[in-house]
Amino acid sequence: PAGLLLDALGRPLHDLRISVTDRCNFRCVYCMPKEVFDKDYAYLPHRELLSFEEISRVARLFVAHGVEKIRLTGGEPLLRKDLERLVGMLRALATPSGRPLDLTLTTNGSLLARKARALKDAGLDRVTVSLDALDDSVFRRMNDVDFAVADVLHGLDAAQAAGLGPIKVNMVVKRGSNEDQVLPMARHFKGSPFILRFIEYMDVGASNGWNMDEVIPSAELVRRIGLELPLAPVAANYSGETAARWRYLDGSGEVGFISSVTQAFCHDCTRLRLSTEGKLYTCLFASRGHDLRALLRSGQPDAALSGAIAQLWRGRADRYSETRSVDTTGLARGGRKVEMSYIGG
Ligand code: GTP
Ligand code: 5AD
Ligand code: SF4
Ligand code: SF4
Repeated sequence: PAGLLLDALGRPLHDLRISVTDRCNFRCVYCMPKEVFDKDYAYLPHRELLSFEEISRVARLFVAHGVEKIRLTGGEPLLRKDLERLVGMLRALATPSGRPLDLTLTTNGSLLARKARALKDAGLDRVTVSLDALDDSVFRRMNDVDFAVADVLHGLDAAQAAGLGPIKVNMVVKRGSNEDQVLPMARHFKGSPFILRFIEYMDVGASNGWNMDEVIPSAELVRRIGLELPLAPVAANYSGETAARWRYLDGSGEVGFISSVTQAFCHDCTRLRLSTEGKLYTCLFASRGHDLRALLRSGQPDAALSGAIAQLWRGRADRYSETRSVDTTGLARGGRKVEMSYIGG
């Protein structure tokens, strides 16, 4: 049995985020801008993707190393054919602690109305839905494929009805683009079963032309929202939580703020990412991954894979968000940063 696995900064391995496709049907301006992700963009061919069997084999090894939360991401994960089958395979994994695995998924919500029930039946616990505006024209501009906000709201209701809660709604706030949606979003989700979280626009990847001027610090949002809807801070649910929680003083629920730019949370980051083609990334801002697929496809036994995973985690010293400087857009130590649509949110 594996002992507690700690990285070079003493952080345990707790979450595995698995990207199941590098494709998406949206072109969010901060993630997959159309100018870069056009019809000539080279997505991974099918043979490069890890199969569900490969994914669940490595997931089992990660769970044996102490992973208790698995999040499926993309691109848009619901574009991967028969994803419910993978959910079922992951649901069957047993944790050494006996605590149930937290099995969740991040989606843009576009296919949720159609798939919520099947995902729940396959054993998915909950979903997190990205939504950047309530106003239809602002939302269409943010997703840049003319997708209607009503369809995402419908997907949210379907997921809630299917029992995929507590559902979180993630809004990336970009100054000058959707900042006028902050209060409408807060008002809309206040008192609802959905937990709204505001995310600072990050300098992830090398395509979005990130600029610090377009980041609204969470402290400013807390002030703006608090003027109309008074807020008080709440303690974190668990160590390593990405969001700082605030509750409405009138008792109608809470909101979260994910402040990776102005208040980095690397010090207790317990997340490892597995890309669509089977590379492991020890940080969202890494410029290179570690090729687990090569080991998988060269017929290595579980013990060898498990040892490689442990060695990788023990050597991990990443803390990009705590050390970033404003003039490193597009660069990470050792090269070009990997795209969010490839590695998962
Ligand atoms: P819960 O389990 O529901 O608390 O989810 P979570 O907050 O761990 O994950 P989620 O996928 O909802 O993360 C929300 C957003 O936070 C992501 O889309 C990213 O923008 C950001 N984020 C998540 N993990 C990291 C991370 O490790 N580093 C940085 N810099 N940002 C992250
Ligand atoms: N900054 C912050 N969050 C981002 N996401 C993608 N790109 C960025 C960025 N540049 C996150 C959003 C979205 C999820 C799929 O990825 O949270 O909801
Ligand atoms: Fe697609 Fe999510 Fe990226 Fe938007 S943020 S382009 S929905 S992967
Ligand atoms: Fe973790 Fe890297 Fe994000 Fe810091 S920047 S929280 S180390 S993934």
